[in-house]
Amino acid sequence: MRIQPIQKLEGIFSIPSDKSISHRSVMFGSLAKGTTHISNFLMGDDCLSTISCFRKLGVHITIEGDKVIVEGKGLHGLTEPESILDCGNSGTTVRLISGILAGQNFSTTLTGDASIQKRPMKRIIKPLSEMGAILEAKEDNFCPMTIHPHTLKGITYHSPVASAQVKSSILLAGLYADSPTTVVEPAISRDHTERMLSAFGATVTREGTAVTIEPCKELYATDIIVPGDISSAAFFMVAGLITPGSELVIQNVGINPTRRGILDVLLAMGGDITCFNEKEVCGEPVCDLRVRYSKLHGTTVEGDIIPTLIDEIPAIAVAALFAEGKTIIKDAAELRVKESDRIEAMYTELSKMGASIVPMPDGMIIEGGKPLHGGALESYQDHRIAMSLTIAACNATSESTLEHAECVSISFPNFFKLLSSHSIHA
Ligand code: S3P
Repeated sequence: MRIQPIQKLEGIFSIPSDKSISHRSVMFGSLAKGTTHISNFLMGDDCLSTISCFRKLGVHITIEGDKVIVEGKGLHGLTEPESILDCGNSGTTVRLISGILAGQNFSTTLTGDASIQKRPMKRIIKPLSEMGAILEAKEDNFCPMTIHPHTLKGITYHSPVASAQVKSSILLAGLYADSPTTVVEPAISRDHTERMLSAFGATVTREGTAVTIEPCKELYATDIIVPGDISSAAFFMVAGLITPGSELVIQNVGINPTRRGILDVLLAMGGDITCFNEKEVCGEPVCDLRVRYSKLHGTTVEGDIIPTLIDEIPAIAVAALFAEGKTIIKDAAELRVKESDRIEAMYTELSKMGASIVPMPDGMIIEGGKPLHGGALESYQDHRIAMSLTIAACNATSESTLEHAECVSISFPNFFKLLSSHSIHA
């Protein structure tokens, strides 16, 4: 893919639906009694992997445009799949489904693409094993992974990482346990599981960084409208702020407090972003965002805000390159175990464009304000790296190329189309 510098961005952007919420709507709908109608579902590759896995587990799921209809089988109605479940590139699918499978009365093997086979599973194997499930994984940490069910007991688990995937996996197994299950996190990670499971009738309570789920007899179908994904909006928020003369509106963006860290960081950097039309949709806060080109300055991003913007750090790094002064990102070692090692990927690729970045074990230090030139860039088959590099390349002084750009289909299938239809070229 060739990427030409752009002059400015303008117009009204309608962004893809939230990936985390789309996954959960199919999963919980499958486990519920009754039919769940999901509107505005994200038809990205990751969420389609979740649909494919639940179909293999015997759930009848129909896709009609952007609507998905899930005929729930009840908590104990899934059936043994005839083959290995392929989770594709999706960490959310593999980790959350593991918690569900731990509560079934059959064994299942999970795998995925080359990236999934490198991502750590010990983080769920440990707590699910403590609950009584038996998990066999390659080198005790990697997919393919087989989950053998067993009677589950409720536990209190102090997770060493703030991870919604880990938390959700344990809470889902907790639905099947003999007593309440509590997950205590070092900082609060995204809470879509807690919100949506409550809407499906589960009893979930929070006290500080601890979440407790009661064992559950039945979940009940409820209709879901999925809001727009702030993780996808992030690329256009940053592109609008760094491209001189830009002014744009991004509609229907989910601004759940456990997800809106990027908004707070960009505002702290001096970004001209306004939220309007604020409302609540299916228990999730949503708004429209107006973004105008701004003179940004560097900042420090660290501590408890990190889980609320973990997927947006590559985009924030690009904003930092166009800001005056230094930006420090730390406490984000989790970036190294995402779809790619996102610290290494951003450091290597942006350095090719003349950026000044020092990679750290848990983040990076970015010196802003230096112009970028075009480069021969690689996405590492990581959708968020591909889109972050693209918005940097749009603001370089010369043309760039991007290898494996098609991976944007994981979360944002129409990314390039939307970008080109709203860009004015020099
Ligand atoms: C997700 C949680 C995050 C995030 C991922 C989606 C989820 O992972 O990076 O893209 O839907 O629960 P961790 O919870 O492991 O940080």
